Amino acid sequence: MTQRRTFPRLRLLGSLLLVVAAGITGIGAAPGGAAPGGAAPGGAAATPGVRPLGDIVPVPASARPGGSPYTLTARTRIHVDDDSREARRVGAYLADLLRPSTGYALPVVDHDGGTGGIRLRLSGREAALGDEGYRLESGRRGVTITARTPAGLFHGVQTLRQQLPASVEEDTRQPGPWRVAGGTITDTPRYAYRGAMLDVSRHFFTVEQVKRYIDQMALYKINKLHLHLSDDQGWRIAIDSWPRLATYGGSTQVGGGPGGYYTKAQYKDIVAYAASRHLEVVPEIDMPGHTNAALASYAELNCDGIAPPLYTGTAVGFSSLCVAKDITYDFVDDVVREIAALTPGRYLHIGGDEAHSTSHEDYVTFMDRAQATVVKYGKTVIGWHQLVGANPAEGALAQYWGLDRTSDAEKARVAAAARNGTGLILSPADRLYLDMKYTKDTPLGLSWAGYVEVQRSYDWDPAAYLPGVPASAVAGVEAPLWTETIASSAHIDQMAFPRLLGAAELGWSPAATHDWETYRQRLGGQGPRLEALGVDFYRSPQVDWRTE
Ligand code: ACM
Repeated sequence: MTQRRTFPRLRLLGSLLLVVAAGITGIGAAPGGAAPGGAAPGGAAATPGVRPLGDIVPVPASARPGGSPYTLTARTRIHVDDDSREARRVGAYLADLLRPSTGYALPVVDHDGGTGGIRLRLSGREAALGDEGYRLESGRRGVTITARTPAGLFHGVQTLRQQLPASVEEDTRQPGPWRVAGGTITDTPRYAYRGAMLDVSRHFFTVEQVKRYIDQMALYKINKLHLHLSDDQGWRIAIDSWPRLATYGGSTQVGGGPGGYYTKAQYKDIVAYAASRHLEVVPEIDMPGHTNAALASYAELNCDGIAPPLYTGTAVGFSSLCVAKDITYDFVDDVVREIAALTPGRYLHIGGDEAHSTSHEDYVTFMDRAQATVVKYGKTVIGWHQLVGANPAEGALAQYWGLDRTSDAEKARVAAAARNGTGLILSPADRLYLDMKYTKDTPLGLSWAGYVEVQRSYDWDPAAYLPGVPASAVAGVEAPLWTETIASSAHIDQMAFPRLLGAAELGWSPAATHDWETYRQRLGGQGPRLEALGVDFYRSPQVDWRTE
């Protein structure tokens, strides 16, 4: 029942071509009409040089333009309700974002009861804003962001940031003016799970590279960072009870480079950095297949007691833990216990995909025991959707990575599990796999799921995607980036951007706002911002990239 790939994942590293900006004419006033109940086209927001309220990604649930813009000045202060350290942290984050380009001091001060400037306001009474929502009110005297939680304030800050000119993202002083359109945005997410996955196994990425990706994700209100920490080509996290996993199993990568691994301190640093951006880290140890790095590190994990060599190619499906051996479950217990202890987040992902070298009976035996271990250490199981062929634990999430041509029978098995209470994370490979080439001319990436241009990636509905799945079973969406051909931050930029923004919008914005035409307009408006951030994104010809 597994999703056999028609083509093995064999590609040489493509060299990164410089893509020349399409440089299509700037669309000045742009889209408006963002949302039903949102910014009206040509509405009150038509002040020249001011980005219309709601002209952001993901589009807010509601944007009502009106009144005068607010202008940041050298006298602007950031007021924070003084009883919350976390709100103050969001204020400090905002000030750090705005200071280099504006050159303003932007002191973060306790709220003194006055009005004016930027105010971050936590209010437990705003039940309708939920765990992550916010309201942004902008007018001549100031901008107030109200939320029930610090996460809501943080997302509101990303909205404020996107309402400002793109040059606010530069790290040197820019002329401004720094105006925010007047009106009110009220915004809550469609899904609680809005993820991106980075495969740090096929190629290793340093802590700094991961942090850069976290910062990019946060701008678009993504709240889960799934780290694919182990695979055939590399084990990337230190495990004290099995030290060779990292020191030997992590010592290479696809193509034979030096690989690497995170020490526990480094992993905790990533987790803390993600938390400071209101993202939760979801660690994945892929089992029982995709385990050559572990099998190479410890001979006793192999059924025949012989360790295979390290692997630097890109085939899949050839490795399996030894389901019949007791030591396999000691290994699983130790690894899950140590990773659970390092991870404050709720989830632990145990893979379960492409176990082509494990019999079905062994697969079920293994996945059921591995899930019980995750539960024992207090975490919620996530597995790739082949997990539904075992017995998904209570509360488990299955991550669907099929595609249009996946058999109806396999889709039906996933749907039946969803009706039975297994939640779904949707990552259709022919929509959200960020390692798929955009077109036949894309230098990086793979194409076993087809070519995935920007429109194809964005233009589908997670709630209606799999027949027979109740909308309530969809926990959210995630955009995975597998890294057989991806070896640097520049490569991440080319493949994730701009498609990651579409995934973010699918996860955040209400279904009623979904519309390719208005999305592509707003996406075009993100071009100058990505450029200012130094993100060398793919200038898809499907999008009219604006200039500022
Ligand atoms: C996968 O792409 N093997 C989940």
